[in-house]
Amino acid sequence: MNVSIRRFAETDSITELTGLLHRAYKKLADMGLYFVATHISEDDAKRLIDGGECFVAEHDGKIIGTILLYAKGKHNPEYYLRDDVIVFGKFAVEPEYQNKGIGEMMMNYIEDYVKSKGIKELALDTAEQAQHLIDYYSKRGYKFVGYHKWSVVNYRSVIMSKQVL
Ligand SMILES: CC(C)(COP(=O)(O)OP(=O)(O)OC[C@H]1O[C@@H](n2cnc3c(N)ncnc32)[C@H](O)[C@@H]1OP(=O)(O)O)[C@@H](O)C(=O)NCCC(=O)NCCS
Repeated sequence: MNVSIRRFAETDSITELTGLLHRAYKKLADMGLYFVATHISEDDAKRLIDGGECFVAEHDGKIIGTILLYAKGKHNPEYYLRDDVIVFGKFAVEPEYQNKGIGEMMMNYIEDYVKSKGIKELALDTAEQAQHLIDYYSKRGYKFVGYHKWSVVNYRSVIMSKQVL
């Protein structure tokens, strides 16, 4: 399958990208885990994309995956504020395209990108109950850093990180 990874562009549709997040994260909502991406508004998605760096996977002219490098935020744990750490999230692949290696392709892409910027560590957080995701990231070299409870979600998060440089 021909899939390319590129930056989300001004001309891309926020509506489509938000819909993709909702569709992909629905399985987590079905598990009772209300990740922000299960219900994010288009305005909030746009704010995150404008502040950070959003990448998309494209197939046949259609966006089928997305991943975001966040801007530094005020309400984050200390670990996320370190200069040598950057955080990704809003990581999603259209349900019918999952389990084909597209997620891994996007992760490899941003790991290389982060490395090229001279940043040492790439981090993420997920729900502590989402063992399948903890396993997914562990398999790819991400290690447990700690826990954090964000007020906007109904679960405690596990922070994981990988040294990419
Ligand atoms: C998490 C997510 C982005 C991963 O994307 P993906 O494209 O499905 O991921 P991959 O295809 O790289 O890997 C998924 C599994 O498919 C397997 N796989 C990869 N290529 C494959 C192929 N060609 N055929 C069959 N299986 C394959 C991988 O080995 C992996 O299994 P493993 O973890 O046991 O190794 C996607 O599942 C998703 O959108 N989930 C819902 C939202 C979500 O959970 N986001 C993350 C929140 S922290």
